[in-house]
Amino acid sequence: MVSSRFRLTLRPEVIMYILCSCTVVVAYDLFDPTANITITWDVVSWTRDGYVAVVKMNNYQMYRQIMSPGWTLGWTWSKKEIIWSIVGAQATDQGECKEFQNDIPHSCEKNPRIIDMHPGTPYNQQFANCCKGGVVSSLGQDLENSLSAFQISVGNSGNTYRTVSLPKNFSLFGPNQGYTCSPVSVVPSSVSLTSGGRRKNRALMTWKLVCSYSQLLASDTPTCCVSMSSFYNSEITPCPSCACGCMNNKNCALIKSTLQQMEGTTPVKQCTQHMCPIRVHWHVKKNYKTYWRVRITITNFYYNFNYTKWTLVAQHPNLNNVAKVSNFIYKPLLLYEHINDTGMFYGVKKLENDLLLDAGSNGSVHSEIILKKDRKMFTLKHGWAFPRRIYFNGDECIMPLPVSYPSLPNSVLPNLDIKPVVIIQVLVAILYQFL
Ligand SMILES: *[C@@H]1O[C@H](CO)[C@@H](O)[C@H](O)[C@H]1NC(C)=O
Ligand SMILES: *[C@@H]1O[C@H](CO)[C@@H](O)[C@H](O)[C@H]1NC(C)=O
Ligand SMILES: *[C@@H]1O[C@H](CO)[C@@H](O)[C@H](O)[C@H]1NC(C)=O
Ligand SMILES: *[C@@H]1O[C@H](CO)[C@@H](O)[C@H](O)[C@H]1NC(C)=O
Repeated sequence: MVSSRFRLTLRPEVIMYILCSCTVVVAYDLFDPTANITITWDVVSWTRDGYVAVVKMNNYQMYRQIMSPGWTLGWTWSKKEIIWSIVGAQATDQGECKEFQNDIPHSCEKNPRIIDMHPGTPYNQQFANCCKGGVVSSLGQDLENSLSAFQISVGNSGNTYRTVSLPKNFSLFGPNQGYTCSPVSVVPSSVSLTSGGRRKNRALMTWKLVCSYSQLLASDTPTCCVSMSSFYNSEITPCPSCACGCMNNKNCALIKSTLQQMEGTTPVKQCTQHMCPIRVHWHVKKNYKTYWRVRITITNFYYNFNYTKWTLVAQHPNLNNVAKVSNFIYKPLLLYEHINDTGMFYGVKKLENDLLLDAGSNGSVHSEIILKKDRKMFTLKHGWAFPRRIYFNGDECIMPLPVSYPSLPNSVLPNLDIKPVVIIQVLVAILYQFL
Protein backbone atom coordinates (compact mmCIF):
# COMPACT_ATOMS: atom_id res chain seq x y z
CA MET A 1 0.00 0.00 0.00
CA VAL A 2 2.65 2.44 1.08
CA SER A 3 4.91 1.52 -1.78
CA SER A 4 2.19 1.97 -4.38
CA ARG A 5 1.40 5.39 -3.06
CA PHE A 6 5.07 6.30 -3.19
CA ARG A 7 5.15 5.24 -6.78
CA LEU A 8 2.20 7.41 -7.52
CA THR A 9 3.91 10.56 -6.22
CA LEU A 10 6.88 9.85 -8.46
CA ARG A 11 4.86 10.03 -11.65
CA PRO A 12 6.84 11.60 -14.49
CA GLU A 13 4.72 14.75 -14.66
CA VAL A 14 5.34 15.39 -10.99
CA ILE A 15 9.05 14.86 -11.31
CA MET A 16 9.11 16.98 -14.41
CA TYR A 17 7.53 19.76 -12.45
CA ILE A 18 10.15 19.49 -9.71
CA LEU A 19 12.95 19.44 -12.25
CA CYS A 20 11.57 22.42 -14.12
CA SER A 21 11.26 24.55 -11.05
CA CYS A 22 14.80 23.71 -9.88
CA THR A 23 16.24 24.39 -13.28
CA VAL A 24 14.73 27.78 -13.78
CA VAL A 25 15.73 29.10 -10.37
CA VAL A 26 19.42 29.07 -11.34
CA ALA A 27 20.07 32.79 -11.51
CA TYR A 28 23.48 32.83 -13.09
CA ASP A 29 24.98 31.06 -16.03
CA LEU A 30 26.53 27.77 -15.18
CA PHE A 31 28.76 27.80 -18.25
CA ASP A 32 29.36 31.53 -18.24
CA PRO A 33 29.56 32.62 -14.61
CA THR A 34 30.68 36.21 -15.25
CA ALA A 35 28.04 36.79 -17.95
CA ASN A 36 26.72 40.34 -17.86
CA ILE A 37 25.96 43.41 -19.91
CA THR A 38 28.16 46.28 -18.78
CA ILE A 39 27.00 49.83 -19.46
CA THR A 40 29.56 52.65 -19.23
CA TRP A 41 29.07 56.39 -19.48
CA ASP A 42 32.19 58.27 -20.51
CA VAL A 43 31.91 62.02 -20.12
CA VAL A 44 33.83 63.40 -23.09
CA SER A 45 33.17 67.11 -22.48
CA TRP A 46 31.54 69.45 -19.99
CA THR A 47 29.12 71.99 -21.51
CA ARG A 48 27.56 75.26 -20.38
CA ASP A 49 24.76 73.44 -18.50
CA GLY A 50 25.82 69.80 -18.41
CA TYR A 51 27.90 67.31 -20.33
CA VAL A 52 28.29 65.14 -23.40
CA ALA A 53 28.76 61.43 -22.74
CA VAL A 54 29.38 58.34 -24.81
CA VAL A 55 27.20 55.49 -23.56
CA LYS A 56 28.44 51.98 -24.36
CA MET A 57 26.68 48.72 -23.84
CA ASN A 58 29.03 45.73 -23.90
CA ASN A 59 27.46 42.30 -24.05
CA TYR A 60 29.82 40.12 -22.02
CA GLN A 61 27.62 37.06 -22.41
CA MET A 62 29.16 34.19 -24.34
CA TYR A 63 25.95 32.80 -25.76
CA ARG A 64 23.08 35.17 -25.00
CA GLN A 65 22.31 37.94 -27.46
CA ILE A 66 19.74 40.72 -27.56
CA MET A 67 17.49 39.78 -30.44
CA SER A 68 15.29 41.88 -32.65
CA PRO A 69 13.30 44.10 -31.84
CA GLY A 70 16.30 45.15 -29.77
CA TRP A 71 17.13 46.80 -26.48
CA THR A 72 15.45 49.64 -24.64
CA LEU A 73 17.53 51.34 -21.98
CA GLY A 74 15.74 53.22 -19.24
CA TRP A 75 16.86 55.25 -16.22
CA THR A 76 15.67 57.93 -13.81
CA TRP A 77 17.32 61.36 -13.68
CA SER A 78 18.28 62.28 -10.16
CA LYS A 79 17.48 66.01 -10.64
CA LYS A 80 15.83 67.96 -13.46
CA GLU A 81 18.16 66.87 -16.23
CA ILE A 82 17.03 66.97 -19.83
CA ILE A 83 18.43 65.42 -22.99
CA TRP A 84 19.45 68.07 -25.53
CA SER A 85 20.30 65.55 -28.20
CA ILE A 86 21.31 61.97 -28.91
CA VAL A 87 23.42 60.67 -31.78
CA GLY A 88 22.97 57.03 -32.80
CA ALA A 89 19.85 56.40 -30.73
CA GLN A 90 16.67 58.17 -29.66
CA ALA A 91 14.33 58.62 -26.73
CA THR A 92 10.94 57.01 -27.22
CA ASP A 93 9.10 59.99 -25.73
CA GLN A 94 9.89 63.70 -25.87
CA GLY A 95 7.92 64.31 -22.70
CA GLU A 96 6.80 67.68 -21.39
CA CYS A 97 9.18 70.41 -22.57
CA LYS A 98 6.89 73.40 -22.06
CA GLU A 99 9.43 75.39 -20.02
CA PHE A 100 11.62 75.71 -23.09
CA GLN A 101 11.17 78.49 -25.61
CA ASN A 102 13.78 78.46 -28.35
CA ASP A 103 15.96 75.41 -28.09
CA ILE A 104 13.66 72.48 -27.63
CA PRO A 105 15.30 69.44 -25.97
CA HIS A 106 15.18 65.97 -27.47
CA SER A 107 13.51 64.70 -24.29
CA CYS A 108 12.40 66.14 -20.96
CA GLU A 109 11.22 62.83 -19.52
CA LYS A 110 12.10 62.08 -15.91
CA ASN A 111 12.35 58.37 -16.82
CA PRO A 112 13.67 58.44 -20.40
CA ARG A 113 13.71 55.28 -22.47
CA ILE A 114 16.28 55.05 -25.22
CA ILE A 115 16.19 52.81 -28.28
CA ASP A 116 18.73 52.20 -31.01
CA MET A 117 18.35 53.54 -34.55
CA HIS A 118 17.88 51.19 -37.47
CA PRO A 119 20.48 50.28 -40.08
CA GLY A 120 20.44 52.82 -42.88
CA THR A 121 20.21 55.82 -40.56
CA PRO A 122 21.61 58.94 -42.30
CA TYR A 123 25.35 59.38 -41.74
CA ASN A 124 25.06 62.57 -39.73
CA GLN A 125 22.83 60.79 -37.20
CA GLN A 126 25.14 57.82 -36.75
CA PHE A 127 27.66 57.07 -34.06
CA ALA A 128 30.30 54.31 -33.95
CA ASN A 129 28.64 50.96 -33.09
CA CYS A 130 25.14 52.37 -33.32
CA CYS A 131 22.19 51.72 -35.54
CA LYS A 132 21.72 47.98 -35.44
CA GLY A 133 18.06 48.10 -34.50
CA GLY A 134 19.04 47.33 -30.91
CA VAL A 135 20.38 43.90 -31.79
CA VAL A 136 23.53 42.98 -29.87
CA SER A 137 25.35 39.73 -30.64
CA SER A 138 26.70 37.42 -28.03
CA LEU A 139 30.40 37.60 -27.29
CA GLY A 140 31.00 34.00 -28.33
CA GLN A 141 29.29 34.33 -31.67
CA ASP A 142 30.27 37.77 -32.93
CA LEU A 143 32.69 39.80 -30.86
CA GLU A 144 32.55 42.81 -33.21
CA ASN A 145 28.82 43.20 -32.90
CA SER A 146 28.63 42.55 -29.16
CA LEU A 147 28.75 46.30 -28.51
CA SER A 148 26.14 49.02 -28.91
CA ALA A 149 26.84 52.73 -28.37
CA PHE A 150 25.40 56.23 -28.66
CA GLN A 151 26.30 59.77 -27.68
CA ILE A 152 24.09 61.83 -25.42
CA SER A 153 24.14 65.52 -24.60
CA VAL A 154 22.64 66.30 -21.20
CA GLY A 155 21.49 69.67 -19.85
CA ASN A 156 20.18 71.04 -16.56
CA SER A 157 22.91 69.07 -14.88
CA GLY A 158 26.03 69.70 -12.91
CA ASN A 159 28.87 70.48 -15.31
CA THR A 160 31.93 69.49 -13.30
CA TYR A 161 33.24 66.28 -11.80
CA ARG A 162 32.03 67.44 -8.39
CA THR A 163 28.60 68.83 -9.20
CA VAL A 164 27.30 66.32 -11.73
CA SER A 165 24.71 63.89 -10.43
CA LEU A 166 24.49 60.44 -11.90
CA PRO A 167 21.39 58.91 -13.44
CA LYS A 168 20.01 56.03 -11.38
CA ASN A 169 17.51 53.18 -11.41
CA PHE A 170 18.65 51.69 -14.73
CA SER A 171 16.68 49.05 -16.53
CA LEU A 172 17.38 47.11 -19.66
CA PHE A 173 14.31 45.92 -21.52
CA GLY A 174 14.07 44.18 -24.82
CA PRO A 175 12.56 41.06 -26.25
CA ASN A 176 13.76 39.58 -22.95
CA GLN A 177 12.47 40.92 -19.68
CA GLY A 178 15.07 39.02 -17.69
CA TYR A 179 17.66 41.72 -16.90
CA THR A 180 18.25 43.47 -13.59
CA CYS A 181 20.76 46.29 -13.34
CA SER A 182 23.08 47.21 -10.51
CA PRO A 183 23.36 50.74 -9.07
CA VAL A 184 25.66 53.13 -10.90
CA SER A 185 29.14 53.77 -9.56
CA VAL A 186 31.98 56.06 -10.51
CA VAL A 187 34.96 54.10 -11.78
CA PRO A 188 38.46 55.06 -12.99
CA SER A 189 38.13 56.95 -16.26
CA SER A 190 38.15 54.92 -19.46
CA VAL A 191 41.33 55.12 -21.45
CA SER A 192 41.37 55.12 -25.24
CA LEU A 193 44.33 55.12 -27.54
CA THR A 194 44.72 57.60 -30.40
CA SER A 195 47.42 58.56 -32.82
CA GLY A 196 47.98 54.95 -33.81
CA GLY A 197 48.26 53.83 -30.21
CA ARG A 198 50.91 56.41 -29.27
CA ARG A 199 48.71 58.68 -27.20
CA LYS A 200 46.35 57.80 -24.33
CA ASN A 201 43.13 59.74 -23.93
CA ARG A 202 41.08 59.62 -20.77
CA ALA A 203 37.37 60.30 -20.37
CA LEU A 204 36.76 63.26 -18.04
CA MET A 205 34.69 61.01 -15.84
CA THR A 206 33.34 57.46 -16.17
CA TRP A 207 30.51 55.72 -14.43
CA LYS A 208 29.35 52.19 -14.86
CA LEU A 209 26.66 49.67 -14.08
CA VAL A 210 26.20 45.98 -14.74
CA CYS A 211 23.00 44.22 -15.84
CA SER A 212 22.60 40.49 -15.46
CA TYR A 213 20.09 37.99 -16.73
CA SER A 214 17.86 35.57 -14.92
CA GLN A 215 15.78 33.02 -16.79
CA LEU A 216 13.28 33.03 -13.94
CA LEU A 217 12.60 36.74 -14.42
CA ALA A 218 12.51 36.43 -18.19
CA SER A 219 9.66 33.98 -18.44
CA ASP A 220 7.34 31.93 -16.20
CA THR A 221 7.73 28.91 -18.42
CA PRO A 222 10.75 27.29 -20.07
CA THR A 223 11.28 28.12 -23.73
CA CYS A 224 12.74 24.95 -25.15
CA CYS A 225 12.87 21.22 -24.72
CA VAL A 226 14.99 18.28 -25.80
CA SER A 227 13.89 15.10 -27.58
CA MET A 228 16.07 12.09 -28.38
CA SER A 229 16.47 9.09 -30.60
CA SER A 230 19.13 6.59 -31.58
CA PHE A 231 20.06 4.13 -34.30
CA TYR A 232 19.71 1.23 -31.89
CA ASN A 233 16.12 1.85 -30.82
CA SER A 234 13.26 2.76 -33.13
CA GLU A 235 11.41 4.61 -30.41
CA ILE A 236 11.74 8.35 -30.22
CA THR A 237 11.83 9.96 -26.79
CA PRO A 238 9.70 13.06 -27.20
CA CYS A 239 9.93 16.29 -25.26
CA PRO A 240 8.17 15.94 -21.91
CA SER A 241 4.46 16.75 -22.12
CA CYS A 242 3.65 20.29 -21.06
CA ALA A 243 7.39 21.07 -20.79
CA CYS A 244 6.68 24.71 -21.61
CA GLY A 245 3.01 24.83 -20.65
CA CYS A 246 -0.03 22.86 -21.71
CA MET A 247 -2.02 23.21 -24.86
CA ASN A 248 -5.40 24.90 -24.75
CA ASN A 249 -7.60 26.26 -27.48
CA LYS A 250 -6.33 29.81 -27.03
CA ASN A 251 -2.56 29.62 -26.77
CA CYS A 252 -1.65 27.98 -30.07
CA ALA A 253 -2.57 27.42 -33.70
CA LEU A 254 -2.74 24.14 -35.58
CA ILE A 255 -1.74 25.48 -38.97
CA LYS A 256 -0.41 28.76 -40.20
CA SER A 257 -3.28 29.60 -42.55
CA THR A 258 -5.92 29.72 -39.80
CA LEU A 259 -3.57 31.92 -37.86
CA GLN A 260 -3.09 34.44 -40.65
CA GLN A 261 -6.81 34.99 -40.85
CA MET A 262 -7.16 35.67 -37.15
CA GLU A 263 -3.86 36.96 -35.83
CA GLY A 264 -2.07 38.80 -38.60
CA THR A 265 1.65 38.83 -37.90
CA THR A 266 2.02 38.34 -34.15
CA PRO A 267 4.06 35.27 -33.23
CA VAL A 268 1.89 32.32 -32.21
CA LYS A 269 3.07 28.88 -31.20
CA GLN A 270 2.18 25.80 -33.15
CA CYS A 271 0.09 23.40 -31.02
CA THR A 272 2.31 20.62 -29.66
CA GLN A 273 2.19 18.36 -26.62
CA HIS A 274 5.22 20.21 -25.19
CA MET A 275 4.22 23.76 -26.21
CA CYS A 276 7.82 24.89 -26.44
CA PRO A 277 8.77 27.42 -29.11
CA ILE A 278 12.02 25.49 -29.66
CA ARG A 279 12.79 21.79 -29.71
CA VAL A 280 16.32 20.44 -29.87
CA HIS A 281 16.50 16.87 -31.11
CA TRP A 282 19.62 14.81 -30.33
CA HIS A 283 19.94 11.71 -32.51
CA VAL A 284 22.74 9.22 -31.91
CA LYS A 285 23.20 8.32 -35.54
CA LYS A 286 26.14 5.97 -35.96
CA ASN A 287 28.69 4.07 -33.98
CA TYR A 288 32.03 3.57 -35.75
CA LYS A 289 35.12 1.89 -34.42
CA THR A 290 36.89 4.99 -33.19
CA TYR A 291 34.26 7.65 -33.78
CA TRP A 292 30.55 8.15 -33.29
CA ARG A 293 28.11 10.48 -34.96
CA VAL A 294 25.35 12.68 -33.57
CA ARG A 295 22.76 14.66 -35.49
CA ILE A 296 21.33 17.75 -33.82
CA THR A 297 18.15 19.33 -35.20
CA ILE A 298 16.71 22.58 -33.86
CA THR A 299 13.07 23.19 -34.73
CA ASN A 300 11.16 26.45 -34.42
CA PHE A 301 7.50 26.07 -33.40
CA TYR A 302 6.65 29.75 -33.68
CA TYR A 303 4.56 30.95 -36.57
CA ASN A 304 5.60 34.46 -37.64
CA PHE A 305 8.82 34.49 -35.69
CA ASN A 306 12.31 33.85 -37.05
CA TYR A 307 15.26 33.39 -34.71
CA THR A 308 18.23 35.37 -35.99
CA LYS A 309 21.75 34.52 -34.80
CA TRP A 310 20.58 31.78 -32.46
CA THR A 311 23.00 29.95 -30.17
CA LEU A 312 22.97 26.45 -28.75
CA VAL A 313 25.01 25.26 -25.79
CA ALA A 314 25.49 21.57 -25.11
CA GLN A 315 27.18 19.73 -22.29
CA HIS A 316 28.40 16.22 -22.96
CA PRO A 317 31.58 14.53 -21.68
CA ASN A 318 32.73 13.70 -25.22
CA LEU A 319 32.64 17.31 -26.41
CA ASN A 320 36.27 17.35 -25.26
CA ASN A 321 37.02 15.51 -28.48
CA VAL A 322 35.01 16.95 -31.36
CA ALA A 323 36.42 15.77 -34.67
CA LYS A 324 34.06 17.42 -37.14
CA VAL A 325 30.97 19.63 -37.10
CA SER A 326 28.98 20.13 -40.29
CA ASN A 327 26.76 23.15 -41.01
CA PHE A 328 27.26 24.84 -37.63
CA ILE A 329 30.25 26.50 -36.01
CA TYR A 330 31.42 24.93 -32.78
CA LYS A 331 33.28 26.75 -30.02
CA PRO A 332 34.33 25.08 -26.78
CA LEU A 333 33.44 26.96 -23.62
CA LEU A 334 36.42 26.40 -21.40
CA LEU A 335 35.10 26.63 -17.94
CA TYR A 336 37.82 24.83 -16.08
CA GLU A 337 40.87 23.61 -17.88
CA HIS A 338 40.47 20.02 -16.81
CA ILE A 339 36.72 19.83 -17.53
CA ASN A 340 36.16 20.53 -21.18
CA ASP A 341 32.71 19.12 -21.79
CA THR A 342 30.70 22.15 -22.89
CA GLY A 343 30.55 24.12 -26.09
CA MET A 344 28.39 26.44 -28.12
CA PHE A 345 27.05 25.97 -31.64
CA TYR A 346 25.72 28.60 -34.00
CA GLY A 347 24.71 28.95 -37.62
CA VAL A 348 26.88 30.02 -40.52
CA LYS A 349 25.89 33.18 -42.35
CA LYS A 350 27.06 31.81 -45.71
CA LEU A 351 24.83 28.75 -45.32
CA GLU A 352 21.99 31.02 -44.19
CA ASN A 353 21.32 28.75 -41.24
CA ASP A 354 22.12 31.50 -38.72
CA LEU A 355 18.48 32.33 -39.44
CA LEU A 356 16.04 29.80 -38.01
CA LEU A 357 12.85 30.34 -39.98
CA ASP A 358 9.40 30.16 -38.46
CA ALA A 359 7.37 26.97 -38.08
CA GLY A 360 6.75 24.92 -41.18
CA SER A 361 8.73 22.80 -43.59
CA ASN A 362 11.75 25.16 -43.52
CA GLY A 363 11.61 25.93 -39.81
CA SER A 364 14.57 23.87 -38.66
CA VAL A 365 18.35 23.75 -38.86
CA HIS A 366 20.61 20.78 -38.27
CA SER A 367 24.18 19.67 -37.88
CA GLU A 368 26.10 16.42 -37.70
CA ILE A 369 28.90 16.07 -35.23
CA ILE A 370 31.60 13.42 -35.29
CA LEU A 371 33.18 12.74 -31.94
CA LYS A 372 36.33 10.76 -31.29
CA LYS A 373 35.85 8.00 -28.78
CA ASP A 374 37.69 7.78 -25.55
CA ARG A 375 37.56 4.03 -25.08
CA LYS A 376 37.57 4.30 -21.31
CA MET A 377 34.52 6.51 -21.37
CA PHE A 378 32.42 5.70 -24.40
CA THR A 379 29.30 3.60 -23.96
CA LEU A 380 25.84 3.43 -25.44
CA LYS A 381 24.49 2.32 -22.09
CA HIS A 382 22.67 4.34 -19.46
CA GLY A 383 21.97 7.23 -21.81
CA TRP A 384 25.65 8.24 -21.79
CA ALA A 385 25.47 9.25 -25.45
CA PHE A 386 22.85 11.91 -24.72
CA PRO A 387 23.59 15.44 -23.57
CA ARG A 388 23.62 16.43 -19.92
CA ARG A 389 22.26 19.90 -20.56
CA ILE A 390 21.14 21.96 -23.55
CA TYR A 391 20.63 25.73 -23.72
CA PHE A 392 19.02 27.59 -26.59
CA ASN A 393 19.75 31.34 -26.79
CA GLY A 394 21.03 31.16 -23.23
CA ASP A 395 17.93 29.54 -21.74
CA GLU A 396 18.08 26.06 -20.34
CA CYS A 397 15.96 23.45 -22.14
CA ILE A 398 13.81 20.85 -20.44
CA MET A 399 15.22 17.34 -20.84
CA PRO A 400 13.26 14.09 -20.89
CA LEU A 401 13.49 12.00 -17.75
CA PRO A 402 16.51 9.70 -17.67
CA VAL A 403 14.20 6.67 -17.46
CA SER A 404 12.66 7.51 -20.81
CA TYR A 405 15.96 7.81 -22.75
CA PRO A 406 16.27 5.43 -25.70
CA SER A 407 17.59 2.17 -24.26
CA LEU A 408 19.72 -0.53 -25.81
CA PRO A 409 17.57 -3.40 -27.11
CA ASN A 410 19.25 -5.97 -24.87
CA SER A 411 18.80 -3.98 -21.71
CA VAL A 412 15.14 -4.85 -21.44
CA LEU A 413 14.34 -4.25 -17.83
CA PRO A 414 11.41 -6.05 -16.28
CA ASN A 415 8.83 -3.39 -15.72
CA LEU A 416 8.02 -4.09 -12.11
CA ASP A 417 11.54 -4.40 -10.75
CA ILE A 418 12.94 -1.07 -11.83
CA LYS A 419 11.64 0.95 -8.93
CA PRO A 420 14.95 1.47 -7.09
CA VAL A 421 16.67 2.32 -10.35
CA VAL A 422 14.01 4.85 -11.20
CA ILE A 423 14.28 6.48 -7.82
CA ILE A 424 18.07 6.66 -7.88
CA GLN A 425 18.11 8.11 -11.38
CA VAL A 426 15.54 10.69 -10.46
CA LEU A 427 17.45 11.66 -7.33
CA VAL A 428 20.65 11.95 -9.32
CA ALA A 429 18.84 14.10 -11.86
CA ILE A 430 17.49 16.38 -9.16
CA LEU A 431 20.84 16.58 -7.39
CA TYR A 432 22.46 17.40 -10.69
CA GLN A 433 20.38 20.52 -10.98
CA PHE A 434 22.03 21.90 -7.88
CA LEU A 435 25.65 21.21 -8.81
C1 LIG B 1 31.09 41.53 -16.20
O1 LIG B 1 31.81 40.92 -17.26
C2 LIG B 1 33.17 41.31 -17.35
C3 LIG B 1 33.75 40.65 -18.59
O2 LIG B 1 33.62 39.26 -18.53
C4 LIG B 1 33.90 40.91 -16.07
O3 LIG B 1 35.25 41.34 -16.15
C5 LIG B 1 33.22 41.54 -14.88
O4 LIG B 1 33.83 41.09 -13.70
C6 LIG B 1 31.74 41.18 -14.87
N1 LIG B 1 31.10 41.92 -13.79
C7 LIG B 1 30.29 41.32 -12.91
C8 LIG B 1 29.76 42.18 -11.84
O5 LIG B 1 30.00 40.14 -12.99
C1 LIG C 1 12.66 53.11 -11.80
O1 LIG C 1 12.49 52.70 -13.16
C2 LIG C 1 11.23 52.12 -13.45
C3 LIG C 1 11.26 51.64 -14.87
O2 LIG C 1 11.70 52.63 -15.74
C4 LIG C 1 10.13 53.17 -13.21
O3 LIG C 1 8.86 52.62 -13.49
C5 LIG C 1 10.19 53.63 -11.75
O4 LIG C 1 9.25 54.67 -11.54
C6 LIG C 1 11.59 54.15 -11.42
N1 LIG C 1 11.71 54.42 -10.01
C7 LIG C 1 11.93 55.65 -9.54
C8 LIG C 1 12.09 55.78 -8.07
O5 LIG C 1 11.95 56.63 -10.25
C1 LIG D 1 11.48 35.33 -41.70
O1 LIG D 1 12.52 35.31 -42.67
C2 LIG D 1 12.03 35.19 -44.02
C3 LIG D 1 13.24 35.03 -44.92
O2 LIG D 1 14.18 36.06 -44.71
C4 LIG D 1 11.19 36.40 -44.36
O3 LIG D 1 10.66 36.27 -45.66
C5 LIG D 1 10.02 36.49 -43.35
O4 LIG D 1 9.27 37.67 -43.60
C6 LIG D 1 10.56 36.51 -41.95
N1 LIG D 1 9.42 36.43 -41.03
C7 LIG D 1 9.29 37.27 -40.00
C8 LIG D 1 8.09 37.08 -39.15
O5 LIG D 1 10.11 38.14 -39.77
C1 LIG E 1 11.01 26.21 -48.17
O1 LIG E 1 12.15 26.65 -48.91
C2 LIG E 1 12.07 26.34 -50.30
C3 LIG E 1 13.40 26.70 -50.94
O2 LIG E 1 13.83 27.98 -50.52
C4 LIG E 1 10.89 27.07 -50.93
O3 LIG E 1 10.79 26.76 -52.28
C5 LIG E 1 9.61 26.65 -50.20
O4 LIG E 1 8.51 27.39 -50.67
C6 LIG E 1 9.75 26.87 -48.70
N1 LIG E 1 8.59 26.31 -48.02
C7 LIG E 1 7.83 27.02 -47.19
C8 LIG E 1 6.68 26.31 -46.58
O5 LIG E 1 8.07 28.19 -46.92
